[in-house]
Amino acid sequence: MLALEALTNRVGELAKTVGVFIRQEANHFDSSKIEHKGANDLVSYVDKEAEKLIVKGLKKILPEAGFLTEEGTELANLTDLYWVVDPLDGTTNFLHGLPVFSISIGLIQNDNVVLGVVFEVNKAECFTAYKGGGAFCNQKRISISPIKALKESLIATGFPYSLLDKKDNYFEIMKSLQVSSHGLRRMGSAAVDLCYVACGRFEAYYEFNLNPWDVTAGILIVQEAGGIVTDFKGEYTSLNGLEILAAGNIHQQVLSTIQKYW
Ligand code: IPD
Ligand code: CA
Ligand code: CA
Repeated sequence: MLALEALTNRVGELAKTVGVFIRQEANHFDSSKIEHKGANDLVSYVDKEAEKLIVKGLKKILPEAGFLTEEGTELANLTDLYWVVDPLDGTTNFLHGLPVFSISIGLIQNDNVVLGVVFEVNKAECFTAYKGGGAFCNQKRISISPIKALKESLIATGFPYSLLDKKDNYFEIMKSLQVSSHGLRRMGSAAVDLCYVACGRFEAYYEFNLNPWDVTAGILIVQEAGGIVTDFKGEYTSLNGLEILAAGNIHQQVLSTIQKYW
């Protein structure tokens, strides 16, 4: 059996160490170093180097685990036990000198997320959870917001790189939620959005067209903080990030709005 608590602490320490590297690079990053993976899909040497450091560290921590990593440092190896790594979630923010970006590391065992660590680099906040162990920010227990009314809620979302044929539906959802809540926020890091739901800064977060590495760690952190994570049908999300709604008490209210326009 995995010693999940000890593993989580070690992964948290690793994320903080790699966070130091990312923060140092942020101080002298210039736009000539931006590379393009696809339309509006940016990357830099910082993402790639951070991922190499994370993979190296995780191999020491748990040599038997495989990997699914955004920048492909390791060939995807989705066995019974594998890490899901986003070395820099919020790359566009990072590249434009905006402060919100994070490292996201999840561990999947037999198709279940059993460990999640998200380190928000500039706030130096390390969000952690392991299955059945609760959720924490810098070792302090966190839980979802007690707010029950949509009109008192702050809601996060993201604008998918490609909106495809769902563009109008997406904007209708935004319009509706914008006028019926305290407002919408677009932080630019899905992992941070999820952690902010977990610690009650946001009452809900929804997005679509994400990837597993954006959401794996954050999903467990929300669930362990008492939140609900589903797809837009209201069913348990299968970790692929294609549709995600994470919320506390207002989950059903936001889901109804999404379903009205989706
Ligand atoms: C992105 C962020 C962003 C979300 C994008 C993701 P990246 O990840 O999580 O908030 O809206 O869809 O791709 O590219 O910065 O790792
Ligand atoms: Ca990401
Ligand atoms: Ca990334």
